[in-house]
Amino acid sequence: MARLFKRIRFDVCIECVLNIAFDTLINPLSLAGVSILSDIITVDDLVEVYADGTKAVQGISFRVGEGEFFGFLGPNGAGKSTTIKVLTTLLRKTSGRVTVAGYDLDKDPQEIRKLIGAESQETVVDGDLTGRENLKLQGNLQQMRGAALEERVNELLKLVELEDVADKRAAFYSGGMKKRLDLASALVHKPKLLFLDEPTTGLDPQSRARIWEYLEGLNRDEGITVFLTTQYMEEADRLCRQLYIIDQGKVIANGSPEELKRQVGADTITLSVVGGEKDGVKAEAKQTLSGIRGVTKVMDSDGGITAYATNASQIVADIVRAFDEKNMQLSSINLARPSLGDIFLQHTGKRIRPEELNTKPASGMRFARRRPARE
Ligand SMILES: Nc1ncnc2c1ncn2[C@@H]1O[C@H](COP(=O)(O)OP(=O)(O)OP(=O)(O)O)[C@@H](O)[C@H]1O
Ligand SMILES: [Mg+2]
Repeated sequence: MARLFKRIRFDVCIECVLNIAFDTLINPLSLAGVSILSDIITVDDLVEVYADGTKAVQGISFRVGEGEFFGFLGPNGAGKSTTIKVLTTLLRKTSGRVTVAGYDLDKDPQEIRKLIGAESQETVVDGDLTGRENLKLQGNLQQMRGAALEERVNELLKLVELEDVADKRAAFYSGGMKKRLDLASALVHKPKLLFLDEPTTGLDPQSRARIWEYLEGLNRDEGITVFLTTQYMEEADRLCRQLYIIDQGKVIANGSPEELKRQVGADTITLSVVGGEKDGVKAEAKQTLSGIRGVTKVMDSDGGITAYATNASQIVADIVRAFDEKNMQLSSINLARPSLGDIFLQHTGKRIRPEELNTKPASGMRFARRRPARE
């Protein structure tokens, strides 16, 4: 008995020592009052193949830290919605390992659903109900009732600035108002993790900026972890601290927006030449550019030709002179600092231009209630 007691004490002590060691040595940030983020989402080798054989997600792996503002940036068909549907338990994955808030996606989908809020790509508010009724209905679906629900609904109507129209039928809301109501619906049960699938696509710049402010506030003031997908470079750049750029079901780059921009490591010079639509002229123009000191890479781009250079502003004169010497006439030349779009272009040879994509405006509304997720 005495030996057993000794053994227990020893185990406890070892644990204490390890904890102290971790806090003081391995985790020095905790001494400074900063806690290290643990992973709220872990995804390893996720694959989703639809019944018709479409390989929508092809072996994606990533981690999302608690309190993070995390984003997937990619064009149409990249696999963004498919990934969100899997993570929010709406779609069964083909293979891979996923945990959300410490729960295994296959074993504990019910537990996961209690902790998450999700806004799908298409606005899902009931046009026959008022904004307030929509939120109450959502609360009821989350087993919320009475004064607590009433209070929460008022709080959310205030947050998304819909107090004045709270008792008007949602069918008569503008596109931006519907999106805001949809966001509020996802927040009714105070989720610790929020999934947003293109929350601002189709909105005017003002409505978009407003949603960005709410989202920043939720993340900063309430500590809600946000997983967002977007086709907007500007949105990803402004909101996300960790960003995965995906295309055709695969990750093509990841890091903070700043890290990703640094990876480009160069300014861009986009130029077009008179007659550049002819292959011969374009090839000669590219060759001319490649020969200029300071140019690190030359590529075709939608606007003509894009060159990367570490010191773009200093070599413009050289470029103009070189083209002049070859009797080629420049019709335009633009310089830009590295952007997330350049990373996409570098990896795929394509530009993401959501304004040209066939995205549904947010005013399109499905008259459907948000259904509870599948069992
Ligand atoms: N139910 C389905 N059955 C078959 N293929 C599907 C299905 N849903 C999506 N896909 C396909 O899977 C791929 C990824 O689609 P997904 O909706 O995940 O892309 P996305 O990145 O969300 O695109 P968008 O920006 O247009 O919303 C596309 O090729 C799409 O056509
Ligand atoms: Mg989508």
